[in-house]
Formats: sequence, C-alpha cells, structure tokens
Amino acid sequence: MDRSEPIPDYRTHYKEHGWAHIKRVLPIEVADATLYKMQQELGGDWESYKGDYIKTFLTDKRAFECYSHDYSPMATLQYGLTPYISTLVGKDLLPTHCYFRVYRKGDVCHVHSDAHACEHAMSLTLGYSNDYLWEFNISDKYFEADVDKPVNAAQRESHLGFHNLLLSVGDGVLYNGINYLHGRVKPNPNEWTAQIFLHWVDRAGKYAHHAFDGRTADLVKRAEFTFPADDAPEKINPNRADLVKARRYE
Ligand SMILES: [Fe+2]
Repeated sequence: MDRSEPIPDYRTHYKEHGWAHIKRVLPIEVADATLYKMQQELGGDWESYKGDYIKTFLTDKRAFECYSHDYSPMATLQYGLTPYISTLVGKDLLPTHCYFRVYRKGDVCHVHSDAHACEHAMSLTLGYSNDYLWEFNISDKYFEADVDKPVNAAQRESHLGFHNLLLSVGDGVLYNGINYLHGRVKPNPNEWTAQIFLHWVDRAGKYAHHAFDGRTADLVKRAEFTFPADDAPEKINPNRADLVKARRYE
C-alpha cells in the first residue's frame, strides 16, 4: 500500500464535502494491538474498567469511555497521528483531545455536531466484536454553527441527506465536526464496537486556543532528566537482562 497515492483525493474530498473516508489510518494489526492493550490496561468489564462507564446525551445506553488526558497512551497515539492528519487536512494542526468509546449491542450515537475543539475530527474504528461493519452517518449539508445549532437548523430542512460510511477496522472518517451533523443512526449490530474520536484544531485558526484542551501550560513543557553521581549502580529491567548482557560485550 502506497500511503501517499490517495492523499490528494482525500484532501480534495475533505475540502469539498467536509468529510473523507480514510482507509487504514492504522494498519489492522496496529488497531488490533492498540485495542488489546487498552482492554488489558483499562479493563474489559465493569468490575475492572478504570475509565468511565457512562451514558451521555449521545447514547441510549451506558458505554465504556475514556478521555485521552486521563490515559496517556491515547494522547500519545493522537500526537503520533497529528502529522498525517495535518497532511490530509492541508493545515498545521494541534491536538485537543480524544475519546475512546465501546458501544454495546443495539446502541446508537445520536446525530449531533461537535464543540469548537473538534474543528477537524476523526472517528477511528478499533474493533468490532462480531466483524459487522457499523454505519457512520454524516450530513451532506454544511451548517453555519455560529448562526444556529446545526441540530436546530436541521429541523427547518424539508429534506436532509446523509452519507452512510462503512469503516473497516483501522479506517477513519475525517470530518468537520462543527459544521456537519453526524452520528450512528442504526443500532450497533455487534456485541460491542470500539471507536476512538480524535479532535484537532488549526494552530493558525480561530479555535487554536483549544489546543491540548487549554492545558498547553501543563502538557507542553520541557522534560527534565537529572543524573545521579557517577558511582550510582545500574538499574536494569529484569525483562531486558539477557539483552543487556549480550549488548554489553558487543
Ligand atoms: Fe461528534
């Protein structure tokens, strides 16, 4: 797969329609490994889950959720995706936050538009328990969110069309979250579906102050490393002991 080849089409589509279906944002193995690691570390059931188990206005049922600034591997995944998404958008982006959500069978994501921190958004599929692709819906109409809430404006429309996208594991839909209505209207056909929503702002745009969810002073800092005295003993992770031994005599 040549990742550079479809980029001009993605960029044009995003610019013209406000969304683009991006294939294999993550290689399928990376999506699988990411979700497995998250399930291992965050928990895979109610008893063990360390994130939020919550019903918001977006869902009908309680879902497993997690906010990136509460779980740094998610934030790091988003940092790593930032150059690629910037390339697709054609703007220099900074991350605001991302959310992990595991929907249960039968749940929906009510049609909505996003806050200003979601100027450039991506819904990325990490896994389907039963391998049924679950449709993502996005309006074909741009709404001027500064004038009226898109959900209110939509009620005055005689006809509102939606694009229905089927995302494979590792695929993402890149969309303008502020000005396009989006959601998942059909019930989730899988026992569970795991998804990450990632959000960015244009660093030169009017929402730039939402970068890092306004936590730039806490998150974008110079690291500090302090060495001990020369005679301080080595510390070696036991998992690495054999490798370290081999390397010492190279
Ligand atoms: Fe959204």
